[in-house]
Amino acid sequence: MNSQAEHLSEETSSQLDKSPEERKEFIRLARWIGYPRAAEILKHMGELLRYPPKPRMPGMLLAGETNNGKTTLVERFSRLHPAYDSTDGESIEHPVLIIRAPEEPDDGRFWNVLLNRLFAPYKLNDHVDKKRAQVIQIMRRIRVKMLVIDEIHNILVGTVSKQRQFLVTLKNLTNDLQIVIVLVGTQEAMNAISSDPQIVNRFPAVVLHRWQFDDNFRRLLASFERLLPLPEPSRLADEDTAKRIFHLSEGLIGETATLVTEAACRAVDQDLAKITVKTFDLVEWTRPSERRSVRAL
Ligand SMILES: Nc1ncnc2c1ncn2[C@@H]1O[C@H](COP(=O)(O)OP(=O)(O)OP(=O)(O)O)[C@@H](O)[C@H]1O
Ligand SMILES: [Mg+2]
Repeated sequence: MNSQAEHLSEETSSQLDKSPEERKEFIRLARWIGYPRAAEILKHMGELLRYPPKPRMPGMLLAGETNNGKTTLVERFSRLHPAYDSTDGESIEHPVLIIRAPEEPDDGRFWNVLLNRLFAPYKLNDHVDKKRAQVIQIMRRIRVKMLVIDEIHNILVGTVSKQRQFLVTLKNLTNDLQIVIVLVGTQEAMNAISSDPQIVNRFPAVVLHRWQFDDNFRRLLASFERLLPLPEPSRLADEDTAKRIFHLSEGLIGETATLVTEAACRAVDQDLAKITVKTFDLVEWTRPSERRSVRAL
């Protein structure tokens, strides 16, 4: 590694002599950056995964604002616990299964989503009981231990009684299969779920809050910086730059990632050696709260 690149990870450093287009492609790759809250939640999910099967299994609701890393976090968990061949070599074991909630709280659609995810053949007009039995049989066979249902706020489009019914279906599924169900969704989903005492204690909320302007946020910026192939250190974690990024991203990790990524691409376009506070002026940017108020016009 040359001395110029000590501020970069080894892989990033090897990108420095690539063409601008290649460097931009590298900058925009999806990456996992660890941070303390994510580590806590991954640890908690790991504990849930190891929970011995019993009639009343624990669950969890991962709640947080949009674009704040919920999906990335559960996908990370699933990559840490991938499918593997069972010891007898006859079948696959699939401990963590991730699906996206159906567009509305409808049992038939829910079974369809699961059957699609499990690559199982079925007919759309099969009876719901048949679909349910098929799902249960396959999930038992491949030994699913945790079912993660992302975008659970989708169910909020239905009437309150349909939402309740759907949550009861989930509760019954966790009981029948003795698996852990992790729901993932926005704070609105949390409100809906907490309105039903029977459900709320089965899915206690774990919240992924917005970031504060603190050392953790600055460490996150430093981690991003190590992945940006620019020849000189940008020192994104320095007070002024970090404050500017925090102001523009409003403490959301997805906004931070996009902003830093695009600033790095502008630096590559302009053949700049690093990102400075001024580079952010080159990024086409509206703060998330302003985007929302523009949409409301
Ligand atoms: N740990 C991480 N490391 C690096 N980038 C991350 C991380 N977490 C989130 N991001 C970035 O933030 C973006 C948004 O994250 P994600 O899609 O997980 O948010 P979300 O909370 O699921 O949003 P939504 O509620 O809209 O579905 C990702 O596309 C990724 O660029
Ligand atoms: Mg998501």
